[in-house]
Amino acid sequence: MTFRTAAAAIVVPLAVGAVLTGGAATPSAQSQTTFSEHVAPIVFANCTTCHRPGEAAPFSLLSYRDARPLAKAIASATASHVMPPWKAGPSDYPFDNARRLTDDQIATIQKWVADGAPEGNPAKTPALPRFTEGWQLGTPDLAVTMNEPFDVPASGPDVYRNFVVPLNLDRDVWVRAIDFRPSARAVVHHSLFFLDTTGAARARDADDPAPGFPGGMGGGRVVGQGRGVAAILGNGDANAQADGVARAAGLGGWALGGRALELPSGLAFFVAKGSDLILSTHFHPSGTAQHERSSVGLYFASGPPTQAFTAVQLPPVFGVFEGLDIPAGQERYTITDSFVIPVDVRAFAIGAHAHYLAKAFTLKATLPDGAVKTLLSIADWDFSWQERYRFKEFVSLPKGTRLDATVTYDNSAANKRNPSRPPVRVYWGEESTDEMGSIGMQVVTANRGDLPQLQQAIAAHIRERAFTGPGLRQLLQRRGAARGAQ
Ligand code: HEC
Repeated sequence: MTFRTAAAAIVVPLAVGAVLTGGAATPSAQSQTTFSEHVAPIVFANCTTCHRPGEAAPFSLLSYRDARPLAKAIASATASHVMPPWKAGPSDYPFDNARRLTDDQIATIQKWVADGAPEGNPAKTPALPRFTEGWQLGTPDLAVTMNEPFDVPASGPDVYRNFVVPLNLDRDVWVRAIDFRPSARAVVHHSLFFLDTTGAARARDADDPAPGFPGGMGGGRVVGQGRGVAAILGNGDANAQADGVARAAGLGGWALGGRALELPSGLAFFVAKGSDLILSTHFHPSGTAQHERSSVGLYFASGPPTQAFTAVQLPPVFGVFEGLDIPAGQERYTITDSFVIPVDVRAFAIGAHAHYLAKAFTLKATLPDGAVKTLLSIADWDFSWQERYRFKEFVSLPKGTRLDATVTYDNSAANKRNPSRPPVRVYWGEESTDEMGSIGMQVVTANRGDLPQLQQAIAAHIRERAFTGPGLRQLLQRRGAARGAQ
């Protein structure tokens, strides 16, 4: 949702709310639900990370005065699970960073509004939470800042921009955590981190006069010049990079309201000396022009990780081999992929990626005993809320578990996020008006020595999709057709 539609959406309930809540009869004192006692604890714990000055949410919720005129909108946004924003639906394995109100909390807010949104005794209001200013995990081992600020216009469409931040590392390092600090918090929606050891991102930056270069994927140039496809195979894969093959690798990212990206203890990202960090940032204009100059803090592990991890991405390479060809107007277009895990693994994080037409994602695991478990389900994908979901505890997936991934797109005019009006035929591609789609899950092998076997199976699966999927033929044909038309 854009800022303008969000603002429009709250104006109406505000007016209605003022009439409804203001005129409500006052129930007996004992049963009354008040802001100070009942609602503030919920709002302070779940909303103020974003709804405070300088953050990207469009208004603050730090006091009764802030919340009272928005009571109706708060009740409706929480009941519909639009707020707090959290796109993952029910999963069989809880996430540790879940932003989801309980049914009781939602009911409390409803009751507060029904009671006339009273303040109650201000003395009972809990203290505001303390927000860590500065680096969330203490002083980083290496802090870097964008070379020059990027101008974000006051208005207009969202901006996607990639920035090359040289790390100037003269030795290889292992990184256990990454924190991200935007300078213009009000306009930075999320930023994905990539590593580039090829210099490709620097070259693209040099081609474009303004700071950075446009596009959605940063260092992860997936297809195209030369070793493009190889580039992404190392995504999140600590060991695969040790062979010295130059490639871009994803490190995860930061999203509005998010925390520093920290790996489970004993795990670390490999960062080769000479790597550039690529920040692939999504900006949401806020009404005033802003200059963004992000800083990133890297926290080094004390030594090599005790265990290596890898990513299982389904379908692989963001779906490039699946031959995405979504007819204009088609309401339901689905791609699927399956993979049988050859060794015992333990999963610790999961995330999805696609552009605007994607609607739903699921990743299910069929365990060797036949039990079917949901690892991730997103019913209402929103490109604005890219989240890396961390499992509360490692999820054990025994050898022989089958993973089934499904990505569904809606290319009809009814999809309010469809960037094309009227809808147009859409293929796989890196522009945000193209599509892609996959679910990535980060895992360690239960037995350290099994990692190569898992990596070989993943590589074999990628080859299988590359040779049997329609995607590469389609890309070549389209490229040939484009050349023929010149
Ligand atoms: C992770 C950041 C974040 C958190 C946490 C969050 N909000 Fe929001 N909120 C936003 C942003 C950003 C918008 C603007 C619309 C958008 O981008 O989706 C918004 C918009 C709203 C709106 C406007 C209505 C709408 O549908 O857009 C309401 C009401 C709201 N938030 C209430 C809440 C309440 C109540 C909570 C806590 C229970 C909360 N928010 C938690 C970021 C957040």
